[in-house]
Amino acid sequence: MTGPKLKTTIAILGCGDVGSTLAYTLILQPICSEVILVDLKKELLEAQVRDLSDATYRGGSGVKVRAGTHKDAGQADIVVITAGAKQKTGESRLSLLSRNLHILESIFSSMSPISPHTILLLVANPVDILTHFARRLSGLPESQVLGTGTSLDSARLRGILAKKAEVAPNSIDAYVLGEHGDSQFIAWSSATIGTTPLALAMPEQLTPEFKVEISAHTRGAAGAIIAAKGCTSYGIGNIAASICKYILFDSRSVRPLSFYQPSLGCCLSMPAVVGRRGIIKAMPIQLDDEEKAQLESCAKGLKAVIQGAEKELYA
Ligand code: LAC
Repeated sequence: MTGPKLKTTIAILGCGDVGSTLAYTLILQPICSEVILVDLKKELLEAQVRDLSDATYRGGSGVKVRAGTHKDAGQADIVVITAGAKQKTGESRLSLLSRNLHILESIFSSMSPISPHTILLLVANPVDILTHFARRLSGLPESQVLGTGTSLDSARLRGILAKKAEVAPNSIDAYVLGEHGDSQFIAWSSATIGTTPLALAMPEQLTPEFKVEISAHTRGAAGAIIAAKGCTSYGIGNIAASICKYILFDSRSVRPLSFYQPSLGCCLSMPAVVGRRGIIKAMPIQLDDEEKAQLESCAKGLKAVIQGAEKELYA
């Protein structure tokens, strides 16, 4: 007899700064009933499992945290991939590609066979390129493979606009789109505070200089944090946890996420409805001519990187 499914499992591959912050956020909320951690560094893995388990005993979070293998992870409801080399001060996300692509390949060969119902959430960088290759390596349907993309950059944008406009961050709908990296762009023309277009809500502040300053801020935010503390963890951990929640709760939230764009031929961030089956659908967004050109150029750049990586991997 098949009863209701009682367990919801999220597997996190890589339990360094980002993976463990994500696990901690999942436990505190709580978002799932079980967290499986996987890492090749056995001592670190055991220590993180113990430390995170300690956080579940008080307050009755009820989440079980355990160490697992890649094979276990492949059967989880969601597999979050944080494993990989991380940016050093002054390094771009794209410079991690070769190292992290090889790690991704070995992850998929150890995880196979993956449950056909698993949703893959890529967090490691360069996230758009890794999401692109994870589609192929996992064999999962496109809608089940997504990356955190510019959801974090968009949160950073919301934060800075909220301060300037003196309104709550969640009253701002504004997206950073494209690459989670240097070719990202802000969809200014569709940004609103409440339902009021940004240009009408803050006409005096929204000068060309201010736009340039904000674009530089969202593009450089991670670099500045990494220079001071060696990594980013809380922002991305929280964003990844919220995406897991949208998936498991089938919340159908609209978020800018990295997923395959058939018309552009690569994965990059555009708004999507996210739910239990992953990307439920793309949500169309109106872009002005300048933004359309930025999107095209971003896709062109990412495709050139993908072609180079294909030569390296599949030559
Ligand atoms: C950041 C990392 C996750 O932007 O790329 O914080």
